[in-house]
Amino acid sequence: MAKHLLKLMDLSKGDITDILNLADQLKYEKKHGIEHHYLKGQTLGMIFQKSSTRTRVSFEVGMYDLGGSALFLSSRDLQIGRGEPVEDTARVLSGYLDGIMIRTFEQAEVEALAEYGSIPIINGLTDYCHPCQVLADLMTFREIKGNFEGKKMCYIGDGNNMANSLIVGGIKMGMKVAVACPSAYQPDAEIMKWASENGDFLCTENILEAAKDADVIYTDVWASMGQEEEKAEREKVFTGYQINDDVMAVAAPDAMVQHCLPAHREEEITAKVFEEHADEIFAEAENRLHAQKAVLVKLMGNK
Ligand code: CP
Ligand code: NVA
Repeated sequence: MAKHLLKLMDLSKGDITDILNLADQLKYEKKHGIEHHYLKGQTLGMIFQKSSTRTRVSFEVGMYDLGGSALFLSSRDLQIGRGEPVEDTARVLSGYLDGIMIRTFEQAEVEALAEYGSIPIINGLTDYCHPCQVLADLMTFREIKGNFEGKKMCYIGDGNNMANSLIVGGIKMGMKVAVACPSAYQPDAEIMKWASENGDFLCTENILEAAKDADVIYTDVWASMGQEEEKAEREKVFTGYQINDDVMAVAAPDAMVQHCLPAHREEEITAKVFEEHADEIFAEAENRLHAQKAVLVKLMGNK
């Protein structure tokens, strides 16, 4: 497996399966009170240039569970927020830490940390992708549905970081993937090209076509972090790109609903569908912890 988790495209199907298997094991150990201090004495730095509830808390608790510790590093307080180059930050922090999780805007910043640092780098969300979330999503799907092969994933909404990672994760695991997005808000063109060449992939503006017979339906906010000024414009464009009863009626009868959270009820999902599928959505949120612990052990556990 690669030294870093920068994007899901860098992982093979076998790498993803190994992470999911370890995540299941770590979840079992945690639930049964079995100590699993696989990263004893190690420290993870967590750089946040954007807000977070799940990513911050799950990585911090995850390191504690694994016998290590985590440092919350807000870009408001770091010199990086005042213009110190990421290349220098990477080399400095490599002397103190055993790994870095970073949430930021540009994918290039995460790639630069990996290039200049000498410790594992984990992408905790960029504008381009959200690999940790989709590992938790795949873990949750496998827990509930058993396997991936031939199952259909549908994503409705903005062709954003979540869409990009879901497409890559779904196709790599052998799922059919259909996304419904407005034409000006489609996922990354290279990812869509790769998906079409490597699996069963559809991108459409028709949400019911995308949702037809789907085993799992995902959505995400219409305006992501950093797009706050576009909110009013996006509300107009995305009206109708919503998981609601009409969408659920054409999906497979036992279809799951997933949302990375935070959710905006009556925008990308109705309150009714959200509450009907709340158990699945909050299992997905919990699995961030287990899936990320597996990533941490895979990347930092060989010292
Ligand atoms: N889903 C997710 O990444 O949540 P946070 O923004 O709260 O970390
Ligand atoms: N697309 C959202 C995901 C939040 C977890 C954002 O980037 O804000």
